[in-house]
Amino acid sequence: MHEEKLSADIENIVKKWEGKKGSLIMILHDIQNLYGYVPRATSLQLSNYLDVPLARIYEVITFYHFFKLEPPGKHLIQVCMGTACYLKGASDLLHEMRDILGVREGTTTKDGLFRLEVVRCLGCCGLAPVVKVDSKIYSKVRKDQVADILSEYEQEKAVK
Ligand code: FES
Repeated sequence: MHEEKLSADIENIVKKWEGKKGSLIMILHDIQNLYGYVPRATSLQLSNYLDVPLARIYEVITFYHFFKLEPPGKHLIQVCMGTACYLKGASDLLHEMRDILGVREGTTTKDGLFRLEVVRCLGCCGLAPVVKVDSKIYSKVRKDQVADILSEYEQEKAVK
C-alpha cells in the first residue's frame, strides 16, 4: 500500500474494511452512503492508497447500478417507462422533462436541484402515466403539466 493521504472519513471507512473479503465494494458502499455518490477524487485516493488500478475501481462502480458517479440532485424525479405508463405517453413526459431541465436521464441539473431517472414500474399502473418526485406520486400526468410540477420545486428554492 502507498502512503497516499486519505481524508479522515475515508481513512475510517478503509480501516473498517481493510483485509476483509469484498472490501472494495464495501468501501465504495460506505463512501456512497457518506457523499451520496463516489467522487472521482476519492476513487483516485483509494486507487493510490489500496494500490488498486483506477480502472478496476470504475469497473466495480459501473457494474453495480447502485453506485453513482455524480452528486445526487436535491430532488429525485422518476419517470416511469413501464409498459402501462409507456402506452399512455410516458416518453412524451420524459422528452418534456429533458427539454425543460436540459439534462438526460441518469444525470443531475447543473444547479443540483433535480436528478432525472427512468424507472420500470412504480407499482401504481392504474394511475399511468406516473411521475414521482421524491416521495410524491403524480398520476395521469399530461405533457402540459410537466412544467407546473417542476415549478413547485423551483419555487421552493426561490423562497429559501
Ligand atoms: S408501468 Fe408505470 S406504474 Fe407500473
